[in-house]
Amino acid sequence: MKTRILLAALLALPFYGQTVSGIPHLQKQGTATQLIVDGKPFLALSGELGNNSATSLENMQPVWPKLVSGNLNCVLVALSWAQLEPAEGSFDFALVDGLIQEARRNNLKVVFLWFGSWKNGLSSYAPYWVKSDYTRFPRIRVKGGRSIELLSTFGDATRDADARAFGALMRHIREVDGSRHTVVMMQVENEVGVLRDSRDRSAAANQAFDSAVPKQLMDYLEKHKDTLAPELREVWAAHGFKTAGSWEEVFGAGKPDSVDMPVQTRTPPLSAEEYQTGWRQLHWPADEIFMAWNYSRYINAVVEAGKKEYTIPMFMNAWLQQPNMAWPGTYPSGGPLPQVHDVWRAGAPAADLLAPDLYLQYFDEVCTRFTRNANPLFIPETSVTATNVLPAFGTFNAIGFSPFYIERSVGPDTELAAAYRLISQLTPAILAQQGKDSITAVRLNEGEGPATVRLGNYTLSLTDIGNGRVPIAPETPGTGQVPQSPRQAGPVAQAQAILMAAGPNEFYFGAVGGAVRIAFAPDTPGPKTVGLGDVQQGKFVDGVWRVIRQLGGDDTGQGEILTVRPNSALRVTVYRYE
Ligand code: DGJ
Repeated sequence: MKTRILLAALLALPFYGQTVSGIPHLQKQGTATQLIVDGKPFLALSGELGNNSATSLENMQPVWPKLVSGNLNCVLVALSWAQLEPAEGSFDFALVDGLIQEARRNNLKVVFLWFGSWKNGLSSYAPYWVKSDYTRFPRIRVKGGRSIELLSTFGDATRDADARAFGALMRHIREVDGSRHTVVMMQVENEVGVLRDSRDRSAAANQAFDSAVPKQLMDYLEKHKDTLAPELREVWAAHGFKTAGSWEEVFGAGKPDSVDMPVQTRTPPLSAEEYQTGWRQLHWPADEIFMAWNYSRYINAVVEAGKKEYTIPMFMNAWLQQPNMAWPGTYPSGGPLPQVHDVWRAGAPAADLLAPDLYLQYFDEVCTRFTRNANPLFIPETSVTATNVLPAFGTFNAIGFSPFYIERSVGPDTELAAAYRLISQLTPAILAQQGKDSITAVRLNEGEGPATVRLGNYTLSLTDIGNGRVPIAPETPGTGQVPQSPRQAGPVAQAQAILMAAGPNEFYFGAVGGAVRIAFAPDTPGPKTVGLGDVQQGKFVDGVWRVIRQLGGDDTGQGEILTVRPNSALRVTVYRYE
């Protein structure tokens, strides 16, 4: 009997011989969600390759060492459906295998991007046999009945073909990587949504648009009424929270027939106020919500086909609404944008997270909108700037950060390499605190007043002191006051710091971009003066803190001033006295 139970238990394990816990998956910690690989949380210090860079191993040859030199531990690599399945039912996995092998050789994890039915709204990566058979695989129609190079979500054959190909890909990845876990996540499609009109106007789409909103969506919205994205709730409220009716009855009018779709929202011109606010609202709500539902249902089928073969985290990325592109159709209408996240959750429950391609200057605001309702943050595309790395991981509990076209800018002497090195030196401390109130990050401009944060039992005042010179001793020794530092003329620098409390009196700090001075004020009763205990510059190696320099004397203002110099990680203990 015992043997039979044991056998049943063994058979329940995936047949590639892995326990489920070793396979990449997501796990909650407090308010954060972490990516667990081989049983341990993993922070993806990534970059996304140019769209076609990994279409041959030869083209990738010079790229791998560059990625390593920039301190990346993960790379986002596009796979094109056209290349994977050049003829229907015939798959070529040689490139996938080679990419996985090269990534392993370079100690990199991989997130594959499935360029299937859609890439940047359009369908340029679908195979020739799909694109040329426009009867079997219908395109959308835009105003005037024109068809464009964009496969319609109203094409069951297209969905099934995409799902079959993605399923075959995931089966293959499981076969070659199910016990190695080089591939840690999958992005399914790329920046989907309708461009050049606010919705699909094919006959099938028009018929669905005039029909009732599906009960599955209505039930979801009703059940989650109190936590819906405010933008969505607002348009539903404006129509009396109707629980049944056509899309326009429930959510409000779509784009009138008279309106031609501009390429950018600036034609016709917006007022200054509309320019500021327009990209934070739903316009022609029925159209965008309708498309979000139809894209999410289609992609859910693709994700399910993939997960049936190999269940690792899968996400969708969004081309964002923005001041110049505030109307749906100027940005892909129906993509996984924050105003329609609830629709995506209802339509694509198999998806693990919805991700921003974040090139906007409003970095924090977008992250805030993308982390509502516990959506885990992964930034698959962003500008090649390092200033958002520490805030992404420290403030928004990001799983990963990934500048686009990384091979063009990556290298050992870049700001990104410095920020990634710092994060990797502090990774165990960051992972231990993510999702709790014991981690944060700040951006500081040189010359501006201090920023304050509460951490552990203290309020910390942080000042950017520029280039990290040796601190000057306070004029009145023992007051713990932060002295003025002489400033150099020139452009204002910005420092970023990441701050963690590992215990009531124990901290980890790191800074990039400038030196940051930190003063402590106690938040609990007792002696008011705070002394510096151990101040250690170091790094985590195999999960253990290793001290590189024990700091005192000149490096700590004779024990009274704490300065975190750029590109350094510190472990600091404090005590109180009178
Ligand atoms: C966003 C897309 O997702 C990428 O594939 C790439 O085309 C960039 N835009 C180009 O800026």
